Amino acid sequence: MKTYLVTGGAGFIGANYIHYMFQKYNDSIRIINVDALTYAGNLENLKDVEKRRNYTFIKADICDREAISKIFEENDIDRVVHFAAESHVDRSIRSPEIFVKTNVLGTLILLDCAKNAWTEGEGYVQGKKFLHVSTDEVYGSLERAGEYFYETTPYDPHSPYSASKASSDMLVKSYIDTYKFPANITNCSNNYGPYQFPEKLIPLIIHNALLGKKLPVYGDGKNVRDWLYVRDHVKAIDMVQELGSLGQTYNIGGHNEKQNIEIVHIILDTLKDMLPEGDPRKERISEELITYVEDRKGHDRRYAIAPDKIKSEIGWVPETMFADGIRKTIAWYFENAEWMDRVTSKDYQKYYEEMYQFREDGE
Ligand code: NAD
Ligand code: DAU
Repeated sequence: MKTYLVTGGAGFIGANYIHYMFQKYNDSIRIINVDALTYAGNLENLKDVEKRRNYTFIKADICDREAISKIFEENDIDRVVHFAAESHVDRSIRSPEIFVKTNVLGTLILLDCAKNAWTEGEGYVQGKKFLHVSTDEVYGSLERAGEYFYETTPYDPHSPYSASKASSDMLVKSYIDTYKFPANITNCSNNYGPYQFPEKLIPLIIHNALLGKKLPVYGDGKNVRDWLYVRDHVKAIDMVQELGSLGQTYNIGGHNEKQNIEIVHIILDTLKDMLPEGDPRKERISEELITYVEDRKGHDRRYAIAPDKIKSEIGWVPETMFADGIRKTIAWYFENAEWMDRVTSKDYQKYYEEMYQFREDGE
């Protein structure tokens, strides 16, 4: 039975990954989820799996070397899948330091603990693998139509978030090159789907539209993101870890580029279509809620992944069309209204007021 150490499993993609893995492998794997439970980590995302005998949660910070090395000492870890990170660009612009700490130092500590635990003689214990989950934002911004991010595209990060992820990727590459460490890196485009925290565009727009609140669109709304349904991403991660060539990087994306303003219109149309007549929320949904606000500083114009390598070498292709994925996502938020109420209480209100008040004031 393989033992997985998943970091950041209480967050959006990590929780979807853990659900996917138990659905796929059931009792034939064991998962240890290590998460510091920051504002973005929510054990409620994992309540369906928490009673499984082959699942363990450990509350720990990946920057805590002692705690992480103890996990490796006490468990024979076969796979590391590293999601834990500070993940929101806007927060990184306001408070960059924690991004460097968690994303850079945390990744280094995790790499080092895995390397120490897996070392045997001159090499490594057979079959051990580390997968570092990263982002397309490390490649910077595409300005011309028809250009795509390939694995060979030079890194050109612009935000403190993407700079910290680029640094963490470089550290993983350095371990591969220096120590022949058995790792892969995946660089994925924008995810959407269940359990996404409503600081990110899609859940924020769904949440605000249902409440009849303003829908903040940064700048001219024409920045382009390449959206991928989260289940397609987590499936790709598993495929890369099992079928990829060690030491390689794989880009993950679905050729689904959309301007932000298009996303907002699609959400409004889909909400109107899915809500029954007479539902008071339906009356509140209106294009008039769209509010152009001050742009994100250093806002990357366009991201677009070329997923050719993962397709040709591993056979992964995206399966969820955006029209289906957004309906599934909205259906999930309808069914989990209490989840949304809970995550948007307390600290979220303070965050929201600060982040969006400053944009409206043009501070
Ligand atoms: P998220 O913010 O929803 O979750 C991050 C998780 O990491 C949370 O559970 C949080 O508690 C945990 N965490 C944060 N700091 C920690 C620390 N110091 N120690 C232990 N746990 C800590 O993020 P997400 O959107 O699920 O992203 C997961 C990973 O995927 C990140 O590495 C991100 O860079 C990458 N990624 C995200 C996207 C996307 O669209 N969301 C796309 C490509 C890559
Ligand atoms: O590309 C992958 C990245 O996608 C991940 O690495 C990040 O972790 C993830 O957060 C996401 O980053 P983005 O900055 O692209 O996602 P976000 O949802 O914050 O914003 C998407 C776009 O929408 C972006 O152009 C900014 C814009 N936006 C965002 C918010 C929150 C708005 O116009 N209004 C908003 O209120």
